[in-house]
Amino acid sequence: MYQTTKKLLAQRIPEHALQRTFYTDVDIFKQDLEAFYFKEWLFITPECELPKPGDYITYTVGDYNIMVVRGADHEVRAFHNTCRHRGSVICKKEKGTMPKLVCPYHQWTYELDGSLLWARDMGADFDPKEHGLTTVHCRNLAGLIYICLADEAPNFDDFAAVTTPYLASHDLKNAKVAYESRIIEKGNWKLVWENNRECYHCSANHPSLTRTFPEDPRVSFLGKDNIPDYIAEHFAACEAAGLTAQFMVAEDGQYRLSRMPLVKGAKSFTMNGEFAVPQKRLGNITFETAGVCNKFHYPSTWAYFLPDYCLTFRVTPISPTETELVTQWLVNKDAQEGVDYDLKQLTEVWIATNDEDRRVVEDNQLGVNSPAFKPGPYSPLHEISVNAFVDWYCDKLDARLPELHPKSHNAHQPDMIATSADAHSEPEVINEPPR
Ligand code: FES
Ligand SMILES: [Fe+2]
Repeated sequence: MYQTTKKLLAQRIPEHALQRTFYTDVDIFKQDLEAFYFKEWLFITPECELPKPGDYITYTVGDYNIMVVRGADHEVRAFHNTCRHRGSVICKKEKGTMPKLVCPYHQWTYELDGSLLWARDMGADFDPKEHGLTTVHCRNLAGLIYICLADEAPNFDDFAAVTTPYLASHDLKNAKVAYESRIIEKGNWKLVWENNRECYHCSANHPSLTRTFPEDPRVSFLGKDNIPDYIAEHFAACEAAGLTAQFMVAEDGQYRLSRMPLVKGAKSFTMNGEFAVPQKRLGNITFETAGVCNKFHYPSTWAYFLPDYCLTFRVTPISPTETELVTQWLVNKDAQEGVDYDLKQLTEVWIATNDEDRRVVEDNQLGVNSPAFKPGPYSPLHEISVNAFVDWYCDKLDARLPELHPKSHNAHQPDMIATSADAHSEPEVINEPPR
C-alpha cells in the first residue's frame, strides 16, 4: 500500500486534479484519516455550544469517538468516549448536559475533569486515580474548540498567535448558536475542500451568495505580490478601524486568513446585503463595510466572520465517497430570534449555498468514479488555491507515509504490512508519465 500510494503521488501531474484513486479507494481513505485527521488539530465546535458546566458534545471521526465537556471549573476538555472499565461508550447523544459522566454499563462515574469518582466493588487494590478517562489534546482558540488525536500534537501556539488578532473583534465567547445544519455530501472530503477553494463555479451555481460575495478570484486567493489597489485600500481602512485584515498564509499553506471586501456597499451575507442582525451584533466592529474575515485551516474547517454574525464549518470524512459538513450560524448571545434577527434572513444564503455546493461536489464524485476520468488542468487564474490545497495534501501524505507504514518504507523491500485485504483492493496506478 505504501509503495502504491508513493507511486501515485509521484505520478501526479503538477497543477492538475488528483487521480481517481485518491477520491475512491478505501485504503487511501484510511491513510487520509491516519495522516490528516488523526494527526492534525481539528476544529470541533464553537465554545458557546457548551455554555454551562456539564454541557458536552460528542464527535466521531473514523473509529474514534470523542466527548468535549465543560468542567465545573469552566475549562473545556476532551476525552475519548470509552469507559476505563470494559470500554462502553459513555455519552451516547450528540450533545447534552450531565452533572457527572456516568457510564451506562456498570455506572462507573467520572468527574467532568475526567477523574474517576466512583466504581462499585472493585476491591481493596483498585486505585481510581489510575482509571481516569483518557484525555485528548484540547485548545480554545478565541472561542473555537480544537482537538488533536495524535499522541504528540503539532504546535498550536504559532497558529493561535497569528489567528487570535483576526478573531478578537468578533467576540466569539459571547456568541450563541442560532442555527446548525448537518449535511452528508456524497463526495470525498478532498472534493469538498477543492470546491471550497475556488469561486470558478460561483457564477453558475451560487445566485444567492454572489449577491454579496465578489467573484474576483483575487478575493478567493491572493498572492502576496498580487494585491489589487481596491483590496489594499480595504485592508488599510480595516486597519484604521482597529481590525486585523492583511492577507496571511501559513508557510506550508495549512491555514490562511484575511478580511476581504464584499461587493460594493454590502455589509453581510444576506440576500439584500444588509445586516441580518443590525443592532445586537456579534463582536464590536463599528466599520460596517469591513467585509468578511475568511479563515480556513486544513483539514477540518473554514469559517466566515462578518460584522454582525459568524459562520463556522466543520468537515469530517465518513467514507471514501461521503463527507459530513456541519455549519453553525453564530449570533450575539443576547440577540433574540424574531426580535433582533429573522432566522430565514440570517440563514438563507448559506443554506442555499451549502446545498448548491453539495450538488456540485456530488456531481464531481459521480464523474470521478468513472474509470474514464483523466485529471484535467486547473485554471491559473481561478484555481490557484485548489492547487495549493492539493499540493499541501500530497506533500503531507508523502512525508507521513513512512510513519503510517513504519516497516514498509524501504524501497527495496516488498510492502511488509500489506494484508490480504490490501491485495484484493490494490488501487489502480494511472499510466501517465510524471511531468
Ligand atoms: S464498561 Fe463502563 S462501567 Fe463497566
Ligand atoms: Fe461553492
